[in-house]
Formats: sequence, C-alpha cells, structure tokens
Amino acid sequence: MKISILTVATVLVLGLGAQAQAVDEPENVIKYRQSVMKAIGGHTGAIVGVVKGEVSYVDHVAAHARGINEMSKLLAGLFPEGTSQFEFPNTRALPEIWDDFSKFEAAAKALEVESAKMVEVAASGDLGAIGGQLQNLGKACGSCHKSFRQKK
Ligand code: HEC
Repeated sequence: MKISILTVATVLVLGLGAQAQAVDEPENVIKYRQSVMKAIGGHTGAIVGVVKGEVSYVDHVAAHARGINEMSKLLAGLFPEGTSQFEFPNTRALPEIWDDFSKFEAAAKALEVESAKMVEVAASGDLGAIGGQLQNLGKACGSCHKSFRQKK
C-alpha cells in the first residue's frame, strides 16, 4: 500500500514536471522557431547544392521540399505576440509581423504553395525545372524576410 501511494505520488510529480515543460516561455519559442527556420534553411541549402550540380542527389529534392512544406505549415504558429525584437534582442522578428498578421500568414502560405510545387517538379528529376522552381521558392523566403525580418 505504501509503495502504491509512493508510485502515485511519483506519477503526479512527473506529470507536473511535464506540465511545467509545456509552458512556452517567449525566449524558448524564439529559440525553437529559429531552429525550425534553420531546418528550412538546411533543406533549401541542400536543394541548392543539387541544382548547382555539386552533388548528384536529385532524387533527394522531393524529400527536402516535403520538409520545407511541413515546416511552412507551422511557421505562423511560431510567432505569438510579444516575441518581436522590440521585446527580445535575440530575435530578428520585426514588430511589423503583428501590425497585420494576416500578411505574415499569407507569406507563410506562399512558402507552403511553392514548396508543394517543388515536390511535384522534383518528381520529374529535371534539374532545369527544379532550378526554376528553386527561384520561386527563394522568392517566397525573400519576400517574407524583406518585410518581416531585421536585416543584419
Ligand atoms: C513567413 C515568413 C518567412 C518565410 C516564408 C521564411 N522565413 Fe526565414 N525567417 C523569418 C523570420 C521572421 C526570421 C527571424 C526569426 C527570429 O529571429 O526569431 C527568419 C529567420 C531565418 C533564418 C535564420 C535563423 C536564425 O538562426 O535566426 C534562416 C536561415 C531562414 N530564415 C531561412 C529561410 C529560408 C531558406 C526560407 C525559404 C525556403 C525562409 N526562411 C522563409 C521569416 C520567414
């Protein structure tokens, strides 16, 4: 009996621990979204390497594009209010994001659309076509960064 009460207590404590971890401190959200953005950057850089002909992994492009596509769907949710560079110095997120959040969401949607197109184009294995779609993908990154990310 004593043991089972102890077990229950342990489970409760662990449960509380898990709950405490679920609180999204702004600093942690910023760090997390920068990791997600770096993942997007990593996938994009990998596609660039293929398009430049530095590596022959043309058959990997669809997987990278799918990675970007999945992450693009999460983007808007990674920018809760109160996490701009106005509040925190370690983020390049401009306050403009929250002036008209629907514009920011549209920019994330554009990335979702262009990365989905890249998945389709990649199936052809045609490097020229993949390169063309890479330009469109890059524009989706650039137009969001231009409006919403602090320049270095
Ligand atoms: C919807 C807007 C949006 C789109 C689309 C977008 N980004 Fe970003 N990106 C941002 C913002 C805002 C930041 C700054 C985040 C911060 O510092 O908290 C950022 C930061 C980054 C960073 C730096 C991460 C760091 O450590 O600070 C990289 C790399 C990056 N983006 C790559 C890309 C690439 C590549 C694409 C396109 C394939 C892309 N982004 C598309 C908004 C966007």
